[in-house]
Amino acid sequence: MYGVLLAGGTGSRLWPLTEHANKHSLPVYDRPMIFHPLGNLMHAGIRDVVVVTGGEHYEQIKKLLDTLDHAKDKNTRHFLKLAPHDHVNFRFRLQDKPAGIADALSLAQWLVRDQPIAVMLADNVFEDDHLLTDVAKNFKGGAHIFLKELPEDQLWETGKDGVVRAKYGMARVEGDKVVEIIEKPTQDRLPSRYAVTGAYIYDASVFSVVHTLKPSQRGELEITDVNNEYIRQGRMTFSVVKGWWGDAGESREGLFAAGELARRKCRQS
Ligand code: G1P
Repeated sequence: MYGVLLAGGTGSRLWPLTEHANKHSLPVYDRPMIFHPLGNLMHAGIRDVVVVTGGEHYEQIKKLLDTLDHAKDKNTRHFLKLAPHDHVNFRFRLQDKPAGIADALSLAQWLVRDQPIAVMLADNVFEDDHLLTDVAKNFKGGAHIFLKELPEDQLWETGKDGVVRAKYGMARVEGDKVVEIIEKPTQDRLPSRYAVTGAYIYDASVFSVVHTLKPSQRGELEITDVNNEYIRQGRMTFSVVKGWWGDAGESREGLFAAGELARRKCRQS
């Protein structure tokens, strides 16, 4: 299985922190943001990773990940559980316009070809290092998403247009099935308090799904549309995230909260 880390976008929600830095290089407690989801891939034994990045400061991400192969950086290798001679094969792709998560994903296609992929948004931070491990090991095809039930006070934000919407894609769950995902619904359309986190596992047919998508109202190819297509085909499974989850790129508050949670986890381990 390949890993795909999606580290695109302009980071406008974290401005001015992103004036001189790629969002995914900002610190979340003791390490750059992108090292947190990278840790989930490493714990699942994935060693081939495609990194899709963009924005003005995209070279920073390449530089940061290149340090991993540097013998000096023992600490980083230690917390990513990399043995001394363990090699991670990074390949980089540039997303030259912020055209959405599904568009970024399509840039990995010619590198991963017909392999299944574990996709992580590079600003998502999970308490559970082994979030992906079992699902990746037992994956037989289709798609798998990771849901987190959130309390009411963590769901909402007011957009520039003054409308209150959920901050995330929200899932309608019936029994052991996800039957629909609504991207950032308004309060009257909330299907449940299960948010769709930024970790996904797909078989290689994901690329043909992406090629059928049309841009959404915000002008992007939406990962939610990809997931709804797998649901429509009856090929979607899900699990519920153990422990906390933070979207460090969603706002300054989100960045701060993810740092605090990462610090608590570090002190407990
Ligand atoms: C994206 C997805 C959304 C998901 C979220 C998780 O939102 O579109 O469905 O819940 O990531 O972090 P965005 O970060 O583009 O606002």
